[in-house]
Amino acid sequence: MKDPITVSITGAAGQIGYALLFRIASGAVFGPDQPVNLRLIEIEPALPALDGVVMELDDCAFPTLNSITPTADLAEGFKDADWALLVGSVPRKAGMERNDLLNINGGIFTGQGQAIAANAKPSCRTLVVGNPCNTNALIAMSNAAGMPSNQFFAMTRLDENRAKSQLAAKAGVHHSKVTNLCIWGNHSATQYPDFTNAKIDGKPVTEVITDREWLEGEFISTVQQRGAAIIKARGASSAASAANAAIDTVISLINPTPEGDWHSVAVCSDGSYGIEKGIMASMPIRTNADGTWEVVQGVPVDAFSQGKIDATIAELVGERDAVKDLIP
Ligand code: NAD
Ligand code: LMR
Repeated sequence: MKDPITVSITGAAGQIGYALLFRIASGAVFGPDQPVNLRLIEIEPALPALDGVVMELDDCAFPTLNSITPTADLAEGFKDADWALLVGSVPRKAGMERNDLLNINGGIFTGQGQAIAANAKPSCRTLVVGNPCNTNALIAMSNAAGMPSNQFFAMTRLDENRAKSQLAAKAGVHHSKVTNLCIWGNHSATQYPDFTNAKIDGKPVTEVITDREWLEGEFISTVQQRGAAIIKARGASSAASAANAAIDTVISLINPTPEGDWHSVAVCSDGSYGIEKGIMASMPIRTNADGTWEVVQGVPVDAFSQGKIDATIAELVGERDAVKDLIP
């Protein structure tokens, strides 16, 4: 067994938390030889429910679960964290867009960014899941003085997985055959699931699915609206698939990306692809053998894609401007 690592998770008593904690504790994310300390952060009123989750974690007797610290105190919660998974925040209800949550949730991420900077390991990586996740990640990153911006991420992997599943169903193939699927921009109804560069079994999607009208229309809108469709059907926002995507994101960031492929996650833009510097935008990312990551360069952007990317980036710039009071 290796030395334990520490994973801090906010919103640990929530729906996503319930689908996330057990897989992390089981070794499914960091490996069967990697013990994990879980620091579980909740607001005071949710601590009794969190106690129940802790009892259940105890009852799993996972070999890789080293310790559990349930807390409402941010300093204790982020102490020595190697990873901070920021899930805790209010989900949207039917009829709301994700950026309706900007005012409700934005404030949570100032204090959490500060607490991460003050208490976590300097190498701590932070993945924001709580919506609107791109701009919440921007707020956390901007308030985490001294923490490198390349250690902050916002989750668009659920969108990538959704897009792969839609393309696979249309083509009549298994979803594992779909690669090179990049989500550009915001985790919102403006996101652009880029079918123009995606591949099925190594062939361009546009050669396998020749119904361009479907690709430009129904495919994109289905992916953009999938969160809303789940809220309508379930009466609650996606939770198991969101937890799964958070796990996929971490796994993709700690393991080298297969040759020629990429994965989607929102990172602090360095200006690549003309995306305004400093905003948290999803783009094609590769993880290198040494554990660093980089934006995949040279992905072709045609006029159709450019229009879609411009729209989602404009929304992110608007969200950033709307929370400027939370950004020091
Ligand atoms: P939930 O309401 O079931 O759970 C949220 C939990 O967060 C609650 O237990 C609540 O007590 C806790 N919480 C609230 N404020 C907190 C704070 N300041 N500190 C710590 N904990 C806090 O919601 P859920 O279904 O688990 O969803 C959580 C978030 O994830 C929502 O914002 C949702 O919109 C978002 N989400 C994002 C994606 C994505 O793809 N990025 C996908 C699904 C859901
Ligand atoms: C999702 O995409 O399922 C989540 O972001 C929840 C939502 O509000 O859509």
